[in-house]
Amino acid sequence: MHLIHSNELIKPTLGRMVVEAPYVAAYRKAGQFIMLRIDEYGERIPLTIADSDPEKGTLTLFYQIVGKTTRNLADKRAGERLRDIAGPLGHPTDIRNYGTAVCIGGGIGIAPILPISRAMKAAGNKTINVIGARTKDLLILEDELRSTGDEMIVCTDDGSYGKKAFVTGALEEIIGREKVDIVVAIGPVPMMRAVSELTRGHGIKTFVSLNSIMVDGTGMCGGCRVSVKGEKRFTCVDGPEFDGHEVDFAELMARLGTYRSEEAECMEHHNCKLEGVTSHGK
Ligand SMILES: Cc1cc2nc3c(=O)[nH]c(=O)nc-3n(C[C@H](O)[C@H](O)[C@H](O)COP(=O)(O)OP(=O)(O)OC[C@H]3O[C@@H](n4cnc5c(N)ncnc54)[C@H](O)[C@@H]3O)c2cc1C
Ligand code: FES
Repeated sequence: MHLIHSNELIKPTLGRMVVEAPYVAAYRKAGQFIMLRIDEYGERIPLTIADSDPEKGTLTLFYQIVGKTTRNLADKRAGERLRDIAGPLGHPTDIRNYGTAVCIGGGIGIAPILPISRAMKAAGNKTINVIGARTKDLLILEDELRSTGDEMIVCTDDGSYGKKAFVTGALEEIIGREKVDIVVAIGPVPMMRAVSELTRGHGIKTFVSLNSIMVDGTGMCGGCRVSVKGEKRFTCVDGPEFDGHEVDFAELMARLGTYRSEEAECMEHHNCKLEGVTSHGK
């Protein structure tokens, strides 16, 4: 059981939780994630470890409310406990001194970019951070990333803040003016695909962190299967980061939609319970 130190909504659909998990806090590295279960009846969901405090034994997690489990997570209060946290899982990011590293975060993908950007900087890279979201209200961690890197570019799709551009637009500008040695991109699949297509043309190595649907997080269920360089890989044990030029993004997108109708049904039932209606034969 893991004590919740704090849990707050920092945006209408975006939560930040600090929770106790001393082992994970001591050993986690940039790029790794955990699988958590709220209670004994809950499903396991993967969340990236955005930060940790080994002294206090706590992890910082950012979660977007998209379905039943993340909605339940938002309802948790400081002082309550989560049933289990497994981790640290997945391979850490391959951090080295590449030269110039561009770290790109889109939407909730900004959270996992923070530890990677910090680690890239600590390894001696010139670090340029690019963050993007649909609109200003969905941007997170701007101050943290601004103080981490050598340069920061903020983009919004609607132009409500920073540059009115997609992150690929900002990346194109950077590539046009200086040599880029590594790109790390985390965010929605179409964004990671677009970044990978852009960097492929320039021969720039690119890491992406895949958000496959996960069930057990241990390589046993096959739920997170992806095709990388034509071979079957499991995101939970072989990833979550892969070379963006080798990922079959079309297959990943199709697999992410696999349980859409069940997830919608689950949310509908959850909402009915909140409203005190117990219909649908459940
Ligand atoms: C390695 C890894 C790290 C992740 N880190 C984070 C993180 O730090 N913060 C965060 O908010 N989310 C993260 N995710 C995604 C997160 O696990 C899902 O949003 C969560 O499982 C949804 O659970 P739910 O029951 O609330 O929603 P569900 O009812 O399961 O799904 C609701 C909607 O979200 C979509 N969805 C479900 N799972 C995913 C997924 N894995 N990726 C994209 N869309 C999905 C569904 O298609 C559906 O439309 C990560 C995923 C992976 C694989
Ligand atoms: S989540 Fe089951 S194999 Fe990866």
